[in-house]
Amino acid sequence: MKTLACLGAAACLLISVAFSADTAPTANKLVIHADSGKSTINRNIYGHFSEHLGRCIYEGIWVGENSPIPNTRGIRNDVVAALKQMHIPVLRWPGGCFADEYHWKDGIGPREQRPSIINTHWGGVVENNHFGTHEFLDLCEQIGTSPYVCGNVGSGSVQEMMEWVEYMTSDANSPMANLRRKNGREKPWKVPYFGVGNESWGCGGGMRPEFYADNFRRYNTFVKNYPGSQVYRIACGANGADYHWTEVMMDQVGRGMNGLSLHYYTLPTGNWGRKGSATDFTEDQWHATFRQALRMEGLLTRHSEIMDKKDPEKRVGLVVDEWGTWYDVEPGTNPGFLYQQNTLRDALVAGITLNLFNNHCDRVKMANIAQLINVLQAVILTDKEKMILTPTYHVFEMYAVHQDATLLPADLQVADYPGGTEKVPGLSVSASRDKAGKIHVSLCNLNPNAPAEVTCELQGAKTQKVSGRMLTASEINAHNTFDRPEVVKTAEFSSAKSTAEGFTATLPPKSVVVLEIE
Ligand code: AHR
Repeated sequence: MKTLACLGAAACLLISVAFSADTAPTANKLVIHADSGKSTINRNIYGHFSEHLGRCIYEGIWVGENSPIPNTRGIRNDVVAALKQMHIPVLRWPGGCFADEYHWKDGIGPREQRPSIINTHWGGVVENNHFGTHEFLDLCEQIGTSPYVCGNVGSGSVQEMMEWVEYMTSDANSPMANLRRKNGREKPWKVPYFGVGNESWGCGGGMRPEFYADNFRRYNTFVKNYPGSQVYRIACGANGADYHWTEVMMDQVGRGMNGLSLHYYTLPTGNWGRKGSATDFTEDQWHATFRQALRMEGLLTRHSEIMDKKDPEKRVGLVVDEWGTWYDVEPGTNPGFLYQQNTLRDALVAGITLNLFNNHCDRVKMANIAQLINVLQAVILTDKEKMILTPTYHVFEMYAVHQDATLLPADLQVADYPGGTEKVPGLSVSASRDKAGKIHVSLCNLNPNAPAEVTCELQGAKTQKVSGRMLTASEINAHNTFDRPEVVKTAEFSSAKSTAEGFTATLPPKSVVVLEIE
């Protein structure tokens, strides 16, 4: 049986397929073109998203200055340290659906005077606005990440959006800049990324693309570049496979936007009414989850093709600013809080999705997994003063070596991983060369029953030394808990060997491995 697969902007190939037998290693061949890298993997592909939703902002990030939990100006120190360690490049805020009902002036000035509102999208809970513009931008400064602020098109005015940008980024003697100074911040912040609405086809206003395109043009006109500030404007993009939305936006806005977003979530069942458990699942559901996650390849290819028609130079970035797994909430938790556990399965979804983004980095300029803490596919979970790192965290930390590196095209002959009458490629790969000249190869073996033997030819480079790290566990649903926080953690990977042509490696079943080649 043969399958066609593409890796990297330039490399498409025919794959010979060998079906895996339980426990017998699968055979996989890889050719990395170390001499023909052209595109840079934008560091922002490794971005994150934090919404006023459940316990992401409150408890996850913000505990307040008087909390017994160690904090700096109200922001948890343990979380800041973990995010720095993960090298988070960009953080989107305040939503999500929340963004289109957020009025930023509610969240500035003395905290005790800020109005409380009801968070109507997410659980109907009271939002006291204690975490607002100053607190978010302080968080970004503490972790050393770029802010990506999403403005309110759905229920906010053009003036409100214009004034927010002025408040944050202008150094003039002007009303909003002076209001910021009065609130304790003399110099403007850098806000390099600004979203003009969120899911304007849905919770952000139920608009048709033609109507949104006009709204984008109008609101965006008043998102000013003040001296010293250059804002990258991101328009609301398609819901998954809504290619018509992309067609209309490219026709009617085109290069008037810098980025066009795309949202796609992985539901194991594909059914919003019964998504499936985060931790209690069978191998069939494990396989189905990867089939759903791998749909991202087709979405990236097709949206890029549409964008290519109007923008062949690829100046408009595809910004996948919401992606990740979405399961039924953990039993006993508020259904509006979207709290879910995170297992080795999530680590593999992260690994294969990040490989896809790397391989499409000629068009994909940013991506933001949903969401940072305690919501959906989180990298961190908290319970009062306790904090744990999820398997997904470890993948982001391991893959950080790809940030701003040059993508190296790769051809892959890979064994399938069959599941019932379906199959997926058993191995996912991307490769890059960093500024110091080191080559990194990230590989995911989706098969939980068989190791994957990889024979790699490295064209245009010599392998002196190969080392690596891996993430795996004994069970497919292995996860970290507050009582057992290190069930899934990284380990040294020593089974890779350099050869005259490149290297060989045997990946354990159900593992993520990142190799470093010098
Ligand atoms: O991430 C959760 C929600 O999913 C966001 O608020 C919304 O944009 C999307 O539908």
